Amino acid sequence: MSQDALKVAAAERALEFVENGMRLGLGTGSTAAKFVDLLGKRVAGGLDVTCVATSHATQAQAEGLGIRMSTLDETPFLDLTVDGADEIDGELRLIKGGGGALLREKIVATASGRMIVIADASKKVETLGAFPLPLEVVPFGLTATRNMITALAADVGCEGDLRVRMLPGGKPFLTDGGNLLLDCHFGRIEAPEELDEALKLIPGVVENGLFIGIADLAIIAGEGGITLLGVEDSEGAIVR
Ligand code: 5RP
Repeated sequence: MSQDALKVAAAERALEFVENGMRLGLGTGSTAAKFVDLLGKRVAGGLDVTCVATSHATQAQAEGLGIRMSTLDETPFLDLTVDGADEIDGELRLIKGGGGALLREKIVATASGRMIVIADASKKVETLGAFPLPLEVVPFGLTATRNMITALAADVGCEGDLRVRMLPGGKPFLTDGGNLLLDCHFGRIEAPEELDEALKLIPGVVENGLFIGIADLAIIAGEGGITLLGVEDSEGAIVR
């Protein structure tokens, strides 16, 4: 099966969690886009949902499919957000932000009763960090912010290059909020909670791409079928 087909398979499974009347958060990236495509077909067939997008790109896609869109100001509590991820570990901790939308993705996911992550099996890792951790940073004081990130990350065992994300034409990538992204090439993040705490202390860091304690369920599509990774009860059944 192609990677694309695996993304569709995960998105199709996530659609089973969508019910009529729900308020949904829509993620960003190629996997989330598969979900939005499938949702658009269901809406065309009569499904009634109200959605909030995590990026301009997803907003445009969803509007093009005729999905009713709202904002977090009009609809501040969502029932479910479905989004992709760059890495998922066994404790449902994620790295997100490969598409540059990590801040809005985190705001939307935490405004949701439930977050479901959809991914192909290449995203499942033992230890987070092979994918460079994106940080959204304000342009003002970038060098000072960068030095502080380097020092505080080293305190929790993370070292590596911090690279400003660039567009192919040579200009810096700007997020939907007008900020820069720093991709942190740490390689391995042995203590994600400690790193997350440390990064939150730095004023120039708007948000980081670690999603800890936010996702409730991951739907991972591989050659052998779909695996669900979620919070389990004592008998191993997924409870949320
Ligand atoms: C965007 C994200 C995406 O969910 C993540 O990058 C995965 O993207 P894709 O499904 O294209 O691999 O966090 O900011």
